[in-house]
Amino acid sequence: MKFESNYNLRSLNTFKLNSQARFFVELNRVEDLHEIYDFAMANNVSIRILGGGSNLILPEHIEALVIKNNLTGSRFTGEETRSISIACASGVNWHSFVLSSIGQGLFGLENLALIPGTVGGAPIQNIGAYGVEVNQFITKVTGYDFDTNTIKALTNPECQFEYRHSIFKTPAYKNFLITEVEFKLLKHAQPVLSYAELAQAFARQPNVQARDIANKVIQIRQRKLPDVQTIPNVGSFFKNPITNAQTVSNLKVKFPDLVVHTLADGQFKLAAGQLIDKLGFKGRRHGTVAMYEKQALVMINLGEARLIDVKKMTDLVQQECLTQLGILLETEPIFW
Ligand code: EPU
Repeated sequence: MKFESNYNLRSLNTFKLNSQARFFVELNRVEDLHEIYDFAMANNVSIRILGGGSNLILPEHIEALVIKNNLTGSRFTGEETRSISIACASGVNWHSFVLSSIGQGLFGLENLALIPGTVGGAPIQNIGAYGVEVNQFITKVTGYDFDTNTIKALTNPECQFEYRHSIFKTPAYKNFLITEVEFKLLKHAQPVLSYAELAQAFARQPNVQARDIANKVIQIRQRKLPDVQTIPNVGSFFKNPITNAQTVSNLKVKFPDLVVHTLADGQFKLAAGQLIDKLGFKGRRHGTVAMYEKQALVMINLGEARLIDVKKMTDLVQQECLTQLGILLETEPIFW
């Protein structure tokens, strides 16, 4: 293993921020974790774990050992009448894993096609899209706990999954490196077509296959979301806010076309992108960043983005949303 010093993480984060890690190492085998642990102890530095870097906003300097997770491989772990279980290493690219599960004739992850990042990142923020959240298919998350130098496995309920949240985002799991995620996937189609664009696309098609849905999702995402290869970004920059009936009816007076989803607990989820759009932020720039012209929920790097501009743009959006609409927007990516 090669431990590097003062390593630039620009190519390893999809927002393409310049960020220097005090120390850096690539993890290719689980067995190497003990040596990495020893290095961190010997140099008296904390650790930070980097997967696909697609949901991260990095500081200019990181006084830690950054571990780039390159763990690969997957294995069958069980079979039941209606399902097959697969454990996948955390460093595998998420979209490749989705495509390989579809290739093996399995169903469940098709609505989550083309989400950037790794398999290990999926449970952390409980990725979701087009009516499906990944926690519906996760049975176990295994990882290495740098605090105790041991391997630990969590069952689905222990992961405490919520909308774009899990126990892995809490301080207690800051030093937990997810090594493997186990999924229980379906042998038979159970298409989720609740999202309007999918419902329309397949209204007349019998026997919709996982591949058909994945292809449609890919098409929608490519149309709406900027490609990280050409326009650096971290996907949705804010979470969709949850609010009460009073706020919804106030906002409806102002915006009759307000997008509102009623939740099981009687609260309401609004579309942050629509609100930011209504406030006139689509295409608006601040220094080196802008809110994307085709989807106001996504902040983009205009070239050489600086953290100070990212933070200022975040403040501008949050302040306007709060003062003009009475809605507090929470950021969605993780700020290191
Ligand atoms: N809208 C606007 N203007 C905009 C953006 C959106 O009016 O600039 C409206 C849309 O027309 C639509 C509504 O807002 O009626 C919702 O927009 P969209 O369907 O594009 O989805 P979203 O709520 O913006 C969420 C997730 C995405 C996920 C899509 C599809 C969050 C924060 N975002 O976006 O997840 O792909 O639904 O399910 O929950 C991510 O987490 O990084 C992400 C991309």
